Amino acid sequence: MTDKTASDFSTWAKTRQARIEEVLDEALPPDSQEPTKLHGAMRYSALGGGKRVRALLCYAAAELCNTEIEVADAAAAAVELIHAYSLVHDDMPCMDDDDLRRGKPSCHKQYDDATALLVGDALQSLAFDVLSTPQLCANANQQVSMLNILAKAVGSTGMAGGQAIDLASVGKALSQQQLEDMHQLKTGALIQAAALLGAANGTLEQISSVHIYAENIGLAFQVIDDILDTEADTATLGKTAGKDADSNKPTYVTILGLDVAKHLADQLHKTAIAAITPFGEQALRLRELAAFITQRNF
Ligand code: IPE
Ligand code: IPE
Ligand code: MG
Ligand code: MG
Ligand code: MG
Repeated sequence: MTDKTASDFSTWAKTRQARIEEVLDEALPPDSQEPTKLHGAMRYSALGGGKRVRALLCYAAAELCNTEIEVADAAAAAVELIHAYSLVHDDMPCMDDDDLRRGKPSCHKQYDDATALLVGDALQSLAFDVLSTPQLCANANQQVSMLNILAKAVGSTGMAGGQAIDLASVGKALSQQQLEDMHQLKTGALIQAAALLGAANGTLEQISSVHIYAENIGLAFQVIDDILDTEADTATLGKTAGKDADSNKPTYVTILGLDVAKHLADQLHKTAIAAITPFGEQALRLRELAAFITQRNF
């Protein structure tokens, strides 16, 4: 999967954002199908919003590693479905208690708590359904490895574990290492999975470089999320600004201060780029995405 017709990053990203929207639309049951409320709420939460950064990472890694487009589509959809589930649960009153997500009422506000819980359950299951599509990969072992990468990234030693640490850390002054460990799990793990799944067809050298890239860019992603929570406004973010401070959450801004947090994001960006430099033009989109992730304002 290559895109050598040097379209600019924004055109490349828009094309893939539209593509993943279609893949997700196709994968999600119609809201006319019973149970209609649950299916409507799943579609409400997974479609029509978000930057689709994880899907873009998957597509960009696929371009570097010549992974087939159908495999990249399924992997990108699986990761975005897991991400949408994580946001639905993250916003619930028992977690961050946020009313606004992607510029709309969060799932439990639009529907109710029980529906939001089930939406998360069902989106997670759908993610594994999509990635386990029979004969998706010519090599069945490769497909099992991909399923394992995703499962490990989202469970109690990945994203769900990071969310547990996040909730247990309210009001605590974590060390920088503890904060990094938490962020690597709650956000980094899924971002790493997105890139590694895209890199499914890569050589060992490509996969290990994509891994280093994704570790650094995944952490940078959450450092920027923490910075934006203090610097951006609610309308731009599409979610409530200032929520971390209101909830007494330890973040890169509270632990390091704004300037050091920004410097750290720059350093992580540079380390990520360095990891993929040997691949030159084939890594163009990964390089551009790293810049987008660290320079974004929403
Ligand atoms: C927000 O992720 C939640 C975090 C893990 C920090 P995004 O900023 O990628 O959210 P969307 O998908 O663009 O809405
Ligand atoms: C969310 O982190 C991480 C996951 C959903 C796994 P945050 O709580 O910082 O995300 P936002 O700021 O609400 O988007
Ligand atoms: Mg949270
Ligand atoms: Mg939150
Ligand atoms: Mg946040």
